Amino acid sequence: MNNDPKKEQPQGELVVKTIAMPADTNRYGDMFGGWLASQMDLGGAVLAHKYGHIRMTTVAIDRMVFIRPVYVGDVVSCFAHVVKRGRTSIGIGIEVWVERLADESILKVTEGVFTYVAIDKNGRPTPIQWEK
Ligand SMILES: CC(C)(COP(=O)(O)OP(=O)(O)OC[C@H]1O[C@@H](n2cnc3c(N)ncnc32)[C@H](O)[C@@H]1OP(=O)(O)O)[C@@H](O)C(=O)NCCC(=O)NCCS
Repeated sequence: MNNDPKKEQPQGELVVKTIAMPADTNRYGDMFGGWLASQMDLGGAVLAHKYGHIRMTTVAIDRMVFIRPVYVGDVVSCFAHVVKRGRTSIGIGIEVWVERLADESILKVTEGVFTYVAIDKNGRPTPIQWEK
């Protein structure tokens, strides 16, 4: 997204790319934080499933920081990377970056760590088969 090596770059792989739409704004016209969190949860689930190969459920959200607002029309991208490999859980760092078409800026707007647990058919935690 950004070719200047001196600038901060998104960490991880692209797991969600969408456009911020008016239906998801608050009364002031900015995007709801909850909408952004749900995009991050979806994106994290994509990466979690890639490792778990089984049903994964979100157990915790940590270190969530809303750095800058998101506006209608922003192109919103979620990038995810593994930060912790547990026995039944996986910690995934998620960054959200926007491309602001009005001034062509590219900005990190949000980040957080989502933890997913692999669950069996009874909804109980089950070990993740990590590849060696
Ligand atoms: C996820 C769930 C099955 C875990 O059950 P549990 O009895 O707490 O399981 P455990 O205590 O054995 O913990 C399982 C794993 O989750 C991790 N975990 C539990 N609570 C955590 C927390 N608050 N933060 C980070 N990791 C946590 C544990 O460390 C463990 O990981 P490990 O095996 O890699 O060490 C259960 O809490 C649940 O069903 N929660 C609801 C999930 C849900 O509905 N999510 C969607 C949001 S609406």
